Amino acid sequence: MTMTVHQAEAVANRQALRDIPLFNDQRLKLGVFGSNCSGGIIMSEAPTDSRITWDQQLRVAQQADRMGMELIVPVARWKGFGGRTNFMGSALETFTWAAGLAQATEQISIFATTHLPAVHPIVAAKQAATIDQIAGGRFGMNMVMGWFKEEIEMFGRPQYDHTARYAYGQEWLDFAQHLWTAPGPFDFDGQFFTAFGAESEPKPILSPRPALICAGNSPTGMDFSARNVDVNLAVLDSLEGAREYKRKISALAADSYHRTLDVFTYGLVVCRETEKEAKQAVQGIIDQGDTEGADLVISGLGIESESYQGVIDAFRERFVLGWGGTVLVGTPEQVTEQLAELSEAGIGGIILGFHDYANELEDFDREVMPLLRKEGLRH
Ligand SMILES: Cc1cc2nc3c(=O)[nH]c(=O)nc-3n(C[C@H](O)[C@H](O)[C@H](O)COP(=O)(O)O)c2cc1C
Repeated sequence: MTMTVHQAEAVANRQALRDIPLFNDQRLKLGVFGSNCSGGIIMSEAPTDSRITWDQQLRVAQQADRMGMELIVPVARWKGFGGRTNFMGSALETFTWAAGLAQATEQISIFATTHLPAVHPIVAAKQAATIDQIAGGRFGMNMVMGWFKEEIEMFGRPQYDHTARYAYGQEWLDFAQHLWTAPGPFDFDGQFFTAFGAESEPKPILSPRPALICAGNSPTGMDFSARNVDVNLAVLDSLEGAREYKRKISALAADSYHRTLDVFTYGLVVCRETEKEAKQAVQGIIDQGDTEGADLVISGLGIESESYQGVIDAFRERFVLGWGGTVLVGTPEQVTEQLAELSEAGIGGIILGFHDYANELEDFDREVMPLLRKEGLRH
């Protein structure tokens, strides 16, 4: 098959995707997650110095950048969850946040998280290309279909059912990919979008598209990820589960779409000098947990069942303590060991939340990073 000049260029430039840190050869890639939202990934009234100020955003992103971390991923949130803390009620908008941080950092990939139903692909494609110019190819997008009903209803329309959300997402992305690669103008005639004479210049520096990640974990979400993204963010319940998940999504990508993708996860780090101090800090977060808020999240996710109250209680604690993710607790040695186990299970990277992002990230750099290097997880 003969390639057009444009296709040949796209393939040649595709090298560039591997040149950015997100695709480097570190055994365990690292990132920051959720620092743009009040509460971060903790639903608790336990005191913290974390604030949603620009000074703190800069401090966190620049620290992660200096540490050689690969990515920083914000949470897209248009509405708080209510409860005692109105968890994530104050959230910096992620494209504008990413633009500011792209200018202020050197090597780290800066992500915007976007609810696809909240932004038109023509607008998002150009925002992405613009930020990618600022970032010199370090921009990426975390794609969210929208699941928090009240949030999506703020936009004046009902939330699509689960399957339709992903059908919409696929069409949204097909349209955006066309805008990122086609010279234009072109017409687009889909189920959800119609456009006449569409075009978008400039293209993103990272060709043929920005780095893409997605946290879909349902069969439809895994299929969407296997088909489209560079990294799937997995919600894990055990190391065995991690292995199985990685095997399943990799096979899906290879068999159905002849491609590969990496699997990362997310986690809360509570690392202290002694195990006792770390456990006390965890207990403090749980004791002052916003259980009302957690219940609102749980019911928003559709997890409601009287007969499974025990499961729901466990879920509540998992949401209070790290948004349902892995919790890495203990001394620097113990946290390193837990990270090594994840890597051993096939997890390629982890994006981290902290109770006090700015200060604890500095602690992590000082205490944990040297151990990760010693273990061969980082170089
Ligand atoms: C690491 C991670 C980041 C996420 N970020 C967001 C976000 O910023 N905004 C949001 O509304 N949902 C976010 N979610 C929720 C996912 O989008 C949600 O779990 C996903 O839509 C569920 O898809 P599924 O039904 O295919 O599993 C995130 C989930 C994970 C695991």
